[in-house]
Amino acid sequence: MKKIKAGIVGYGFMGHCHGEMLGTFDEVVFAAAADTNPEQLKDVPQGVHAYGTIDEMLKTEELDFIIIATPNPSHLEMVEKSAKAGIHIICEKPAAMSIEEFDKMTAAAKENQVIFTVHQQRRWDKDFRIMKEVYDRRLVGDMYVIKSQLYGINGNMHDWHIYPEMGGGMLYDWGVHLIDQILFMVDSEIDSVFADVRNVINRDVDDYFHILIKFKNKITADMELGTYYLTPKRAWFIGGTGGSAMIDGFGGEGKIVRTTHLLENVPGKITMTAAGPTRSFGPPAPGLLIEEDLPITNAEHRQYMVHFLKALHGEEELAVKPEEVRVVLDVMEAVRESARTGEAVRFKNNNQR
Ligand SMILES: NC(=O)c1ccc[n+]([C@@H]2O[C@H](COP(=O)([O-])OP(=O)(O)OC[C@H]3O[C@@H](n4cnc5c(N)ncnc54)[C@H](O)[C@@H]3O)[C@@H](O)[C@H]2O)c1
Repeated sequence: MKKIKAGIVGYGFMGHCHGEMLGTFDEVVFAAAADTNPEQLKDVPQGVHAYGTIDEMLKTEELDFIIIATPNPSHLEMVEKSAKAGIHIICEKPAAMSIEEFDKMTAAAKENQVIFTVHQQRRWDKDFRIMKEVYDRRLVGDMYVIKSQLYGINGNMHDWHIYPEMGGGMLYDWGVHLIDQILFMVDSEIDSVFADVRNVINRDVDDYFHILIKFKNKITADMELGTYYLTPKRAWFIGGTGGSAMIDGFGGEGKIVRTTHLLENVPGKITMTAAGPTRSFGPPAPGLLIEEDLPITNAEHRQYMVHFLKALHGEEELAVKPEEVRVVLDVMEAVRESARTGEAVRFKNNNQR
């Protein structure tokens, strides 16, 4: 069988991750890597050809596809050059700094008839896939809220991520994943976006955001991220009329909690609590709450590449479609607009603004 030849441009942190991943696929040869910093190329695996620029790599190698893992502002140039060379493209997220840039990328791919997709591999995060299963199977009845929270303690802006002109900040870094997950999960059009975005301890780029997306099916997605939020956590919550589903941790540890009967019309019993007498927020009656296990998933990031290769062979559609990525970028622009104006940004039909 003829092997598929892959190249990587930008052999830094993510480039190395991609190189390792490619090595796990028998049908793929990691043929070449290009990086403007020779230091980064010192440890290319044996047999991989190293280049100082994408131009040299594309001129010399006959690649089937390229993975673009350079900093964000260079993605457009890399996509245009790769498309012109007639090779298929996986571009790192955020694919583009703006919708305008993204449209140029999709146009270049279309003109040169190459596959173009974006590395939104967090669609295969275990915690996310479990919650998607809860959503798809309506395991907690009619849902009203989905919360996705990510908190860290390190402030955690480093290298080029501290510069706005380099596409730094957490909205570009993690926001793009959290929004992509929610849009991939919720089978409804967007109604509106409301957001707060802040630079808490970083001078020039955002390190905290809180985003509410209201969907036309009446579900609200609530995403909050902070890098200086001194209780590290990755959590999910889905609330519905049939129970609550919750996860704490990327490993997907959590549970579904239900009540043995629906509490509507049950008169509350007055209880004394630390907050004084209460009917609504006292402890549950013995036996009222029951717990169930969450669904099981074998999701892992490698599946991103499995699906990409199937799309390359024409065996299935692209898993991460450019039109989906465009909506994510549009929501990110709406997030910035809402944070600036203090107003919700409304979407019309078909996820168009
Ligand atoms: N999908 C994910 O989970 C994920 C995680 C981290 C980073 N990323 C994305 O991957 C991309 C790279 O991020 P990183 O953290 O690996 O950065 P990095 O700084 O570690 O690596 C970038 C590499 O690109 C090289 N480079 C810069 N300009 C170049 C050019 N014009 N030509 C060739 N090489 C060039 C740099 O020398 C560096 O080695 C970014 O778009 C980032 O958002 C994605």
